[in-house]
Amino acid sequence: MAEKVLVTGGGGYVGSHCVVELIEAGYCPVVVDNFSNAVRGEGDVPESLRRIENLLGISIEFHELDLLDRPGLEKIFKKHSFFAVMHFAGLKAVGESVEKPLHYYRVNLTGSMNLLEVMQAHGVRNLVFSSSATVYGDPQRLPIDEQHPVGGCTNPYGKTKYFIEEMIVDQCKAEKQDWNAVLLRYFNPIGAHSSGLIGEDPQGIPNNLLPYIAQVAVGRRKYLKVFGNDYNTLDGTGVRDYIHVVDLAKGHIAALRMFKDNCGCKVYNLGTGTGYSVLQMVKAMEKASGREISYQIAPRREGDIASCYADPRLAEKELGWKADFGIEKMCEDLWRWQSKNPTGFNNGTAS
Ligand code: WQD
Repeated sequence: MAEKVLVTGGGGYVGSHCVVELIEAGYCPVVVDNFSNAVRGEGDVPESLRRIENLLGISIEFHELDLLDRPGLEKIFKKHSFFAVMHFAGLKAVGESVEKPLHYYRVNLTGSMNLLEVMQAHGVRNLVFSSSATVYGDPQRLPIDEQHPVGGCTNPYGKTKYFIEEMIVDQCKAEKQDWNAVLLRYFNPIGAHSSGLIGEDPQGIPNNLLPYIAQVAVGRRKYLKVFGNDYNTLDGTGVRDYIHVVDLAKGHIAALRMFKDNCGCKVYNLGTGTGYSVLQMVKAMEKASGREISYQIAPRREGDIASCYADPRLAEKELGWKADFGIEKMCEDLWRWQSKNPTGFNNGTAS
């Protein structure tokens, strides 16, 4: 019998790519999602999951549920005996978190506390948590390894990731005999499944660079605003460690294998170790799409840092995982998704 894994936020960008990798690795994912960032498809399931079902020829158990609905969560845990939980659900827009900090603390922290308490009540003790390099704040050194100080987050969203990490660390300490947790600190996930059927589909104006560039390439946006070209980087624009979302998803499968050895609480950076600037990413997407991508230099964005990229060696050593795909493949897969779905999941054409 395939081991069951609860996937919170499994209708979203990273969550849905992890659902694919879970199924392909022989696990049985059960998805809960409140649709806060997932587009509804036929049968009122996230369109991303509906497409995965068509792609893989299987059906995926899905429950529309908000983690703030504690009784609803209890029901799912009563119905299934989960081997592990992968926790993606939460609000993730940096700018919005600055405007609505209490909303972000309530949704992200209370939702996570509910999940941890219901896991404990039902004897589910294996957790993979979707954390973020944003917990490092403005890097004191580069590349960033897992020993780099954390907590210097510059926005409420990043602070929620840090606080949730701390909750999990303390829970593992309190129940050291039983609890295993792997905290995965993502750098900048981009790209899409090679089928072009699922991908990143931000609702409204994209906050992040690559979805915005892709929408310029496909003609949905006129030009890209480059937020500052006066940083101390190779061309003055911001440098980030972009990682293919499928590589990232495979890192989650590698994390599940750690639970067999009762790993306790572990933290890993999921990045490639290589940084690329905004203008380098514009060029890479022009090459992948064959389209010109217009841009204008604009003032720096509040809270942005100049450079951020990972030291990925610990994940390679202990998880036996490293990123396989380079920038060309990331941009090629992103372009296939965006050109087949110019308005994201809403156009519903690719099925
Ligand atoms: C990348 C670079 C911008 C948009 C954020 C979150 C982080 C994580 C990833 C969740 C920067 C520049 C961007 C644009 C631009 N999310 N840029 N024009 O800021 O590194 O990280 O997303 O975990 O928590 O903080 O990613 O894609 O927003 O920006 O010039 O329209 O692109 O200044 O240098 P970021 P990003």
